[in-house]
Amino acid sequence: MIDSAAEERWVNPLRDPQDKRLPRIAGPSGMVLFGVTGDLARKKLLPAFYDLANRGLLPPGFSLIGYGRRDWSAEDFRDYVLSAVKERARTTFRESVWKRFADGLFFVSGNFDDDEAFDRLAETVSQMDATRGTAGNWAFYLSIPPGFFADVCHQLERSGLAHAEAGSWRRVIIEKPFGSDQKSARKLNRVVNSVFPEESVYRIDHYLGKETVQNILALRFANQLFEPLWNANYIDHVQITMAEDIGLGGRAGYYDGIGAARDVIQNHLLQLLALVAMEEPISFSPAELQAEKIKVLRATRAVEPFELTTARGQYTEGWQGSQKVCGLRDEEGFDPESTTETFAACTLEIASRRWAGVPFYLRTGKRLGRRVTEIALVFKEAPHQPFGNTGTAALGNNAVVIRVQPDEGVLMRFGSKVPGSAMEVRDVNMDFSYAEAFTEQSPEAYERLILDALLDESSLFPTNEEVELSWAILDPILRYWAESGRPDDYAAGTWGPESADRMVARHGRTWRRP
Ligand code: BG6
Repeated sequence: MIDSAAEERWVNPLRDPQDKRLPRIAGPSGMVLFGVTGDLARKKLLPAFYDLANRGLLPPGFSLIGYGRRDWSAEDFRDYVLSAVKERARTTFRESVWKRFADGLFFVSGNFDDDEAFDRLAETVSQMDATRGTAGNWAFYLSIPPGFFADVCHQLERSGLAHAEAGSWRRVIIEKPFGSDQKSARKLNRVVNSVFPEESVYRIDHYLGKETVQNILALRFANQLFEPLWNANYIDHVQITMAEDIGLGGRAGYYDGIGAARDVIQNHLLQLLALVAMEEPISFSPAELQAEKIKVLRATRAVEPFELTTARGQYTEGWQGSQKVCGLRDEEGFDPESTTETFAACTLEIASRRWAGVPFYLRTGKRLGRRVTEIALVFKEAPHQPFGNTGTAALGNNAVVIRVQPDEGVLMRFGSKVPGSAMEVRDVNMDFSYAEAFTEQSPEAYERLILDALLDESSLFPTNEEVELSWAILDPILRYWAESGRPDDYAAGTWGPESADRMVARHGRTWRRP
């Protein structure tokens, strides 16, 4: 018998019963997770499931079946999940929640192409439907290398798991990397769509689950202040930076051969660009939002010549704060001869009236000065400065900076008079910080996305067309890099290779030092 999580869910006694913002709670359902022993599952997915349970957002009887090669019992799997939850969950550990959650954890052992194991999985799923009230509603989460997608999709079809009975649903959630270029992404889409119709496919881009990324839409379209200036008449250029201070850690096996551009520009950074540059959607329904993103991605192209408009690098030994760190070629498991880049930058432009002539500079890298993701819209200079030669020379351009992480918020940079008798103007910041403005803590991106997939809410998931268009933007650069030797070096703890500075300096611009 299942005891109901809903019974113990905390209800705010002051809550207005007419309040329409009721918590969005998933209906009866279960999930099968492929790739349970991977880095992502341990650090992000398993803790996110627990956090959802802890917030009372999973249905009573929610069941999570791990599928993998380990010869694990349900008990072993529970121990593994427990240690991941204790290590990484965002919310407080509560024994009563854990107990209920753990009752729904099961494990099926097998390879990704194993008929017999998938038949056992299908049996387990039917048992859950009969005993835990999952009602035939199942999502299959593929947190596995794309080389296995075809096998798993084929097995889900063969074993009947992909097919829902009338009144229930089956969905597939897919982690990146989704292909390595447009051609391979198309092939993968064909494989997935031959088993699951597009409306049942949820491709994860975890940046879309971040609160600050969703706030781009609020900032732009809930206010009158910004949108009139959000165009080529006022904006000089846009910088999108995703800097990480970590190195490859234990991920050399995944990363070698993929590199910074495929790992994050193709997905996270191009999604940020789409949200910043798109036109206002008619509504935030998945179809309307995706239509606007598709339109802007279709109009986006990489600026040539790539020799001058792109940069790539590999980190060498250096200092991260007071800690000495090794270079990429000394990272365990990384081929020292590899030309895989850990820093990538490129210049894009958007063929539209709104953005004609405004370069979008994108950069990302591992082992950079600090961890920060931000979008900076840098304005043109005021057409006239009526201050004579009274100390405005050092004045930078105005900027609106959306800080995705850390210190989530929005910053505006503008010139202000320095107190005193002279008319001296200096740059100042006006800062909105999420942490100071709101008491609520932001949920982790994966909590939001897993819940959305269970609720059939697909606005925050890129479609097959968005994925393919993003590859089409990047492919020419990747082809050029494949033929142009080794990436440049940059010392760990710096802001990337000099070629990245030259890339923007040729038009008299500089990168922001976030
Ligand atoms: C992942 C990349 O998509 O995003 C990783 O594969 C990267 O290489 C990670 O470290 C960064 O995510 P976040 O949420 O920490 O910015």
